[in-house]
Amino acid sequence: MMHSVVLARRPQGNPVEADFAVREAPLPEVTEGWFLTRNTFVSLDAGFRNWMNEDSGDEVLPAMGLDEPVMGLVLAEVLESKNLDYAVGDKLMARFAWQTHSLSDGSDFIARLPAELEFNPSAYMGVLGDTGMSAYFGMTDIAKPTAEDCVLISGAGGAVGTIAGQIAKLSGARVVGIVGSQAKAGWLCDTLGYDAAVVRSGDTPLAEAISEACPNGVDVFFDNVGGQTLEAVISNMNHRGRLVLCGAISGYGVTPHGPNNLFELITKELSVEGFMTHFRHDRYDEAREQLSQWLREGVIQSPEHRLNGIENVGKAFADLFAGENFGKTVVAL
Ligand SMILES: NC(=O)c1ccc[n+]([C@@H]2O[C@H](COP(=O)([O-])OP(=O)(O)OC[C@H]3O[C@@H](n4cnc5c(N)ncnc54)[C@H](OP(=O)(O)O)[C@@H]3O)[C@@H](O)[C@H]2O)c1
Repeated sequence: MMHSVVLARRPQGNPVEADFAVREAPLPEVTEGWFLTRNTFVSLDAGFRNWMNEDSGDEVLPAMGLDEPVMGLVLAEVLESKNLDYAVGDKLMARFAWQTHSLSDGSDFIARLPAELEFNPSAYMGVLGDTGMSAYFGMTDIAKPTAEDCVLISGAGGAVGTIAGQIAKLSGARVVGIVGSQAKAGWLCDTLGYDAAVVRSGDTPLAEAISEACPNGVDVFFDNVGGQTLEAVISNMNHRGRLVLCGAISGYGVTPHGPNNLFELITKELSVEGFMTHFRHDRYDEAREQLSQWLREGVIQSPEHRLNGIENVGKAFADLFAGENFGKTVVAL
């Protein structure tokens, strides 16, 4: 049998576990041109919240349908194939759905993985997957930190943030994170080598807390959060600082808060660049090789928030928005 997590109702604001339900069905028949996978891990990625509202379809993805399997990234292995490009045993990182098995004709977004996995399979969903590669592309292509820089990262304890911070540390920069709790702030500094961390919901207004943690100002901001956080950081940026926009989780599924201080982009001559990792698909091997090398050398770690079983996929997704995760969120099926 195959199990799928479906969108049981449209989330109101932040998603909660009850927005999702598990359905069971017989394994589908594989016809000419198609292949069937068994999925071993589901990756939970906050960005997919954007396509859960009605009429939310755009140039990237269509809106998700009610009672339809929820789109997401999975680690998959081909079980049966009538498609010449995919053989039984091929390992894939693919945008299928939150399912134990998937049927594809190869037209989905698929990245091939090596036949022999050198690291723990779940690492290919995190540090070697979409989120780790986002940290890699954003830091090495755009931010390009140096030892003179103060690098600030929002969502610093999550999947992208934990890797982005460790990459920035390799350049010798001073690295500061913004997180949702004191426990996560302590963990970032004690375990991942962050130099300081700011708690976004603390007693001190965020802009002031950032100024205390970054007394010489911020040279690079790697943003996963957007909204009020971005606004508070802009007011702390140094002249000719770089803003790398990776995500804006504070505005997913809700009306986003627009920064009201964009004039500072002009007066401080700031550069702003956003990016989408999937547009760098042709460079996944390069990114995975460099991240693998850092893992081999032991200079980066890949912390994981792991749950087990298809019935926990909805809860794992809700955890991202409640800030429960320390590191990459995955569910082992
Ligand atoms: N550009 C790309 O190609 C690309 C690719 C992958 C991911 N992303 C983006 O990267 C970001 C991280 O995604 P992820 O899936 O890896 O999640 P994640 O960082 O592992 O988890 C999300 C974290 O965001 C924080 N957060 C949640 N709601 C928030 C809010 N309203 N305001 C401020 N912080 C909030 C929480 O941490 P605290 O409670 O500790 O703050 C939570 O742990 C997302 O914005 C995602 O869209 C972009």
